[in-house]
Amino acid sequence: MNILILGSGGREHALAWAVAQNPKCDQLIVAPGNAGISQIANCAAIDPSDAEAVLELVAAESIGFVIIGPEAPLAAGVADALRAAGITTFGPSAAAAQLEASKSFTKNVCDAAQAPTAAYGHFTNADAAKDYIRANGAPIVVKADGLAAGKGVIVAMTEEEAINAIDDMFGGEFGVAGAEVVIEEFMEGEEASFFVLCDGKDVLAVGTAQDHKRVGEGDTGPNTGGMGAYSPAPVLTDEIATKAMEHIIKPTIAEMARRGTPYEGVLYAGLMIKDGAPRLVEYNVRFGDPECQVLMMRLGAQALDLMQACAEGRLASVKANWARDHAVTVVLAADGYPGGYAKGGQIKGLDDLPTDSKNMVFHAGTKSQDGQIIAAGGRVLNVTARGDSLQDARDRAYAMVDKIDWPEGFCRRDIAWRAL
Ligand code: AMP
Ligand code: GLY
Repeated sequence: MNILILGSGGREHALAWAVAQNPKCDQLIVAPGNAGISQIANCAAIDPSDAEAVLELVAAESIGFVIIGPEAPLAAGVADALRAAGITTFGPSAAAAQLEASKSFTKNVCDAAQAPTAAYGHFTNADAAKDYIRANGAPIVVKADGLAAGKGVIVAMTEEEAINAIDDMFGGEFGVAGAEVVIEEFMEGEEASFFVLCDGKDVLAVGTAQDHKRVGEGDTGPNTGGMGAYSPAPVLTDEIATKAMEHIIKPTIAEMARRGTPYEGVLYAGLMIKDGAPRLVEYNVRFGDPECQVLMMRLGAQALDLMQACAEGRLASVKANWARDHAVTVVLAADGYPGGYAKGGQIKGLDDLPTDSKNMVFHAGTKSQDGQIIAAGGRVLNVTARGDSLQDARDRAYAMVDKIDWPEGFCRRDIAWRAL
């Protein structure tokens, strides 16, 4: 079977790494890919959100299965176009991708599904939003309704901060994403991510993870796309996972099917856990990045079988086989990230690192130039290791980090501290 993966980050490198190990995979193409991906797959320079270009590539390369990594092609309806053309596709329809693309849509689904989540109000004008903030007080959470590249959420510790966030959003800071806002009750607790595959009717758990969103050690400083992650998440015990499945995820899937927009693909539930009970923070309609890197490290080649069963509506007949192992990924980012940073620094030492089922450096933002690997993004490498214990996995990930020679990069030295 020829397989196409859409995307260009560390998540897609990890997906490609797992898929390429499966004997079912004949030719693997990633579009557009990056320098690391090009070492294990063919890269095609097309825009993954351009459905017509994707369909042309699928026809030209006799692709039998497409895996969609990021949210933008999903929200743009690329999965719909592929399914309409009869191509087996892993990823939700644009209608189902609203679970990530619109916060008010998700709150509405949670209401109908009676899924536990934060109390909220939905506003299309600033005065009503400010009245709600004054009535409820701080801390309170202000969210741009639409996709804002992870930057549309302000956890306000004071009323003033929340009111300023309203002015920014209705003032156009987040473009159309901020034309509507959701204001939520601030939830306390520990956050963890739960990943499940859904084929429209059945659900299969494929792992838990925790990431580190803040740039600084001890989880301080500005938010990023994620500076590191580990799997499993100890806080997401079997008991909590069962509660999340029964009270949050299955009712959501049933509600999506009832609306005529069944959910097919991976569903990433961000949970807030307190006093033994999970509440939903948000849904994403894709694997997390860098959470996918630790999940793929643990799942290996079977990830392809599971994604294919999901896309073919056969989830009820498959199982995920788990080893009692742990994985850790450490993100190497360019100095200055998540603010301004320079591109173009040369990264050395990668060739001397092990690449096997326990050690892998996934590329997130790199390109190759004259045979050299060059930094080409904010988050650049995901140094990932698997071990019998979390400590073992983490020690081996940092041992690899220490062999990478990239003076313009940095990483957090405390990934997984909460779990250790
Ligand atoms: P989101 O994009 O909705 O995941 O929000 C980004 C981050 O903001 C989450 O991962 C949480 O850390 C935080 N957050 C969002 N909503 C809430 C809430 N209602 N209570 C507390 N923290 C929240
Ligand atoms: N690491 C968080 C995300 O992928 O949304």
